[in-house]
Amino acid sequence: MHGYLHIDHAKMVFDTKKGKFTALSDINLDVKQGEFITLIGHSGCGKSTLLNLVAGLNDPSDGVLLLSDKEIKGPGPERAVVFQNHSLLPWLTCFGNVYLAVERVFGAKEPKARLKERTEAALDMVGLTHALHQRPNEISGGMKQRVGIARALAMEPKVLLLDEPFGALDALTRAGLQDELMRIVEETHATTLMVTHDVDEAVLLSDRIVMMTNGPAATIGDILEVGLPRPRDRLKLAENPGYHHLRGQVLEFLYQKQLRKAA
Ligand SMILES: Nc1ncnc2c1ncn2[C@@H]1O[C@H](COP(=O)(O)OP(=O)(O)OP(=O)(O)O)[C@@H](O)[C@H]1O
Ligand SMILES: [Mg+2]
Repeated sequence: MHGYLHIDHAKMVFDTKKGKFTALSDINLDVKQGEFITLIGHSGCGKSTLLNLVAGLNDPSDGVLLLSDKEIKGPGPERAVVFQNHSLLPWLTCFGNVYLAVERVFGAKEPKARLKERTEAALDMVGLTHALHQRPNEISGGMKQRVGIARALAMEPKVLLLDEPFGALDALTRAGLQDELMRIVEETHATTLMVTHDVDEAVLLSDRIVMMTNGPAATIGDILEVGLPRPRDRLKLAENPGYHHLRGQVLEFLYQKQLRKAA
C-alpha cells in the first residue's frame, strides 16, 4: 500500500550554464493523509525543489510522485502552496489576491457573497483585516507572507505545501500563526509538507521530521518520528524532556552529521 502522497525514487536534475546539476537524488517518502511533515536541511540542499515537485511546478527527472494513487502532473487546486518568496500579484489588493484563489476553487458553486466571506475570514485569521485594501508594495514583508498564508488556507486544500512560511515574521506573530496552523490542520485534516529552518518549529508542528543531507544529489538522511501528544502547547512542551530529546536529535543531524559531510 502506498501512502496518500507517494514519492518513489524521485530525482531532479537541472540544466545549468555549467552543465547538468543534480539537486535531488533517490527521494523516497510515503506520507499518510492528515500527516504533518516538516523538511529540514541546510540552505541549498533542495527543500524548495522537493516541494515544487509535489506542487507539480516541476517534473522529476526520474522517479514518480503519486497523490492518492494518481501521478502528479502540474499544479492542482487540492494542493495549495505558500512560496518562500511571497508571490502576490502586485496590482491586486490583499483582498484581491486571496479572492482570486477563492474564486478559482469555489467560484463555480458558491455565490459571490460567500466568496467574499471566505476571503475576509482568511485574512482575519492572519490578522490582516486592517489591510484588506492595500497593495503588496504598501505592506511589509511579513504582511505579504501572511497574505500568502491566508490565500493558501482559504482554498481549503487537501495538501498544504509551505516553504518557510514564517521565516520573515517576528517571534510573536510567528508563534501565533504556528498555533493557528496547528488548529487549522487539526480541523481540516490537511496533509502538510512544510519547509523550515527552525528546529523548535519542526518539533512543535510535525508528526515526522524529514532531515535532508547536503547537496548536490541531496537525499533523505533520516526521518524522526515526533510522538508528542496533540494538541500541543508550546509552554508545556518546554518542560517536556521528550521535546528536548527530539530537538537535540535534529540539531545533532544538522550540525554534526551534516557539517562533517560538507567539510
Ligand atoms: N531552476 C534551477 N536551475 C538550476 N539550479 C537550481 C534551480 N533551482 C534550484 N537549483 C539548485 O538546486 C539546489 C537546491 O535548491 P533549493 O532552492 O531547492 O534549496 P533549498 O534547500 O530550498 O535552500 P534554501 O534553504 O536556501 O531555501 C541549489 O543548489 C540550487 O542552486
Ligand atoms: Mg528554499
